[in-house]
Amino acid sequence: MSQPYDRIFNFSAGPCTLPVEVLEEAKEDLLNYKGTGMSVMEMSHRSKAYEGIIAAAEADLRTLMGVPDNYKVLFLQGGASTQFATIPMSYLPAGKTADFVLTGTWGKKALESAKIYGQTNVVFDAKADNYNQVPNLESLSYSSDAAFMHFTSNETIQGVEFKSDPSLSVPVICDMSSDILSRPVDVSKYALIYAGAQKNMGPAGVAVVIIRDDLLASGPDGLAPMFDYKVQAENGSMYNTPPCWSIYMCGLVYKHVLKHGGLAGAQARNQAKADVLYSAIDGSNGFFKGHAHTDCRSIMNVTFTLPDEDLTKTFIKETEVAGLDGLKGHRSVGGCRASIYNAFPQEGCEALAAAMKEFAAKHG
Ligand SMILES: Cc1ncc(COP(=O)(O)O)c(C=O)c1O
Repeated sequence: MSQPYDRIFNFSAGPCTLPVEVLEEAKEDLLNYKGTGMSVMEMSHRSKAYEGIIAAAEADLRTLMGVPDNYKVLFLQGGASTQFATIPMSYLPAGKTADFVLTGTWGKKALESAKIYGQTNVVFDAKADNYNQVPNLESLSYSSDAAFMHFTSNETIQGVEFKSDPSLSVPVICDMSSDILSRPVDVSKYALIYAGAQKNMGPAGVAVVIIRDDLLASGPDGLAPMFDYKVQAENGSMYNTPPCWSIYMCGLVYKHVLKHGGLAGAQARNQAKADVLYSAIDGSNGFFKGHAHTDCRSIMNVTFTLPDEDLTKTFIKETEVAGLDGLKGHRSVGGCRASIYNAFPQEGCEALAAAMKEFAAKHG
């Protein structure tokens, strides 16, 4: 089953597969972007051409996600991890508490960073079950002085995902790094959404922050400008030189997703791909075991284990030779992880499911 340009099935957790059409368009533009006589990497971020690129990227992201007018959209450097610090630095004043829901590794990292800046409280922690489940966010008890609650909509390493947007009275902050644009979300349920680009949006180097105006205005004065969302918003994400190329690539991806049915279209394709793999797990008579509880199985990162370490190594080696790359799971979960973000093709999931079936029949 050959893929365009002899590309392999890349199950990497990120950076990861981008749409071939987008890569082709970037290639087309590479040496001379739309008659400007230069590439996007070479042009001034203050030029008319670049202003058009960033404005279109923002407008298309707003359309895709249905971002209400009382939210700002920022394109920032430093990845999602920098937001782990900027958020508490900005919105966790003395005398208030930041509530954290821990469903995996990235939520824990966000918590560790927040602890540096103020009072935190863990309202849910799935550690005892090695992070294989998510709670009902509406049924948890939040601190009476909660400045915000933070959760991770999709835990990339554990493969557990929340299936709906929470309705809470406390301001909700969500790390959507590994499932943004994979399905429709109701942005109005969140005070702040952030995501590194390098899974569903584009190359590494840019993080998107979508922030409600009232939260934005509540930030303190006197932060260093690069860590001040107000300064970034006032400067249209161009307080300093932005990651021009990464934002341009995100813009191409947004147009691509819009062209292919928007977020509802993406969700349908993602669910169909995930179903192929979860069916292979469930149909293996226990040879493969899914890590996540069935009600929170991620449609982006499918995590599963094999009966033992030797079989796992053999499976990963054999699939790699067959052009199924990047299946090794994170050591905290073990086994395999198939990351099947928006641009990952359905055929790749079918090829993996066939390989799983064959392997289980031989070794089970
Ligand atoms: C859910 C989640 N949050 C945060 C991060 C960290 O992102 P970055 O490398 O952009 O800092 C990742 C990276 O994989 C992630 O999956």
